[in-house]
Amino acid sequence: MSPPRKIGRILASPAVGQEETVQGWVYRTRSSGAIVYAVVRDSTGIIQVTVKKGNLPEEEFEAAKAAPVESSVIVTGKLFEDKRAPGGFEIKASGFKLVGGAMPFPITEYQSEELLLDNRHLWIRSREQAAVMKVKASVLEGARAWLKANDFIEVTPPILTQNACEGGVTLFKLKYFDREAYLSQSAQMYLEALIFSLDRVYSLTPSFRAEKSRTTRHLTEYWHLELEEAWTDNAGNMEVQENLVTAMVEQVLQDRQEELRLLGRDPADLREVRPPFKRVRYSQAIEALRAQGLDLSFGSDLGAVEERAFTANEKVPVFVTNFPKEIKAFYMKEDPEEPSTVKCADMLAPEGYGEIIGGSERETDLDKLVERLQALEIPMEAYQWYLDLRRFGSVPHSGFGLGIERVVRWVCRLEHIRDAVPFPRTVARCYP
Ligand code: 4AD
Ligand code: MG
Repeated sequence: MSPPRKIGRILASPAVGQEETVQGWVYRTRSSGAIVYAVVRDSTGIIQVTVKKGNLPEEEFEAAKAAPVESSVIVTGKLFEDKRAPGGFEIKASGFKLVGGAMPFPITEYQSEELLLDNRHLWIRSREQAAVMKVKASVLEGARAWLKANDFIEVTPPILTQNACEGGVTLFKLKYFDREAYLSQSAQMYLEALIFSLDRVYSLTPSFRAEKSRTTRHLTEYWHLELEEAWTDNAGNMEVQENLVTAMVEQVLQDRQEELRLLGRDPADLREVRPPFKRVRYSQAIEALRAQGLDLSFGSDLGAVEERAFTANEKVPVFVTNFPKEIKAFYMKEDPEEPSTVKCADMLAPEGYGEIIGGSERETDLDKLVERLQALEIPMEAYQWYLDLRRFGSVPHSGFGLGIERVVRWVCRLEHIRDAVPFPRTVARCYP
């Protein structure tokens, strides 16, 4: 028996007449009397296998005839051209070994979202889901490569914490022996502590948000890429953001164009993504949205609806800067040129996808920080360590958090963010 090869390899350089062995799963079958047409898939593609009675041991023919979808098989046979077969080639089987049989697969062609979510552990075998996961891996790979090339050091902040970085409303609380603790919403405060020895740091961790709303862009557990750099203002940090996002997109274009097409994303759309991205002040964004007929005023937050309206016709991400102080987090630095606003930027993905990054320059003035914490009635004990960072050699610094699934949703043109993660956690679901 020839050594097994991946289907993608075989189809990329087909050697007609050569014996091939494929290890995979039955994708679909149909039989007409003495011939079974089985389509087999592996992690790289699908190929047609024609199993003809008499060309292989009788019990193997019977196995092929009876094999339900998702049975695992090892197939051997010579490769031939066949214009009608997917990929244009077929294997004429001289061997068909059933490795793991299958019960009738619970997922058939037309299924409700609920059934697919209940059977997520099986549905992730679908070609679309596999394509998304491959794109996601390239997104992460592109990010890590860019960060390394730009001297950012990966660090490992805690997940159990007593700080509410992004406010109390979306905290997952848990009993930590005789105290209360939370699942981390953001590594930011810990990254701020780490810049004093490392200058430029980043982390990739799960973040947790007890988001009660059912939306197409909120998970309760998501992968958060966060970065912090010393000696940098908000403007410098925005350059890092646009270069990083461009590098992530470029990696996907380099590795995963076929997957993008399968998902309905034209790779040409993503080739437009190049710095610099447009920068718009919050006040201008509000004006533009009012002109579109939305009922907004200075101080209104930009939610999904507003972000969608604002980015619907964009091809490339856009920054919105200088949000009003009152609607942003306590740690953001007041802009001395417009003190009702903070030196911050949200990066919004184009085509209506909306926020993918939230970033800012950090407040370094100890008194202002204490004032903000008090105004928000945040209990100060848990923040003493954070305030120490302003007491011992404080430096100007900036950073941001990027939601990996938000980026994947945009890049893959997904309707719902839950399809950007294999086992989604939302208000409605924590199973499987
Ligand atoms: O804007 P956010 O809340 O900012 C922070 O957490 C900062 N402390 C980050 C930092 O500066 N280190 O969250 C950052 C990003 C958002 O822009 C969004 O992409 C993503 O995290 N995000 C979510 N993604 C999926 N589901 C959710 N519920 C999310 N909440 C935020
Ligand atoms: Mg935000």
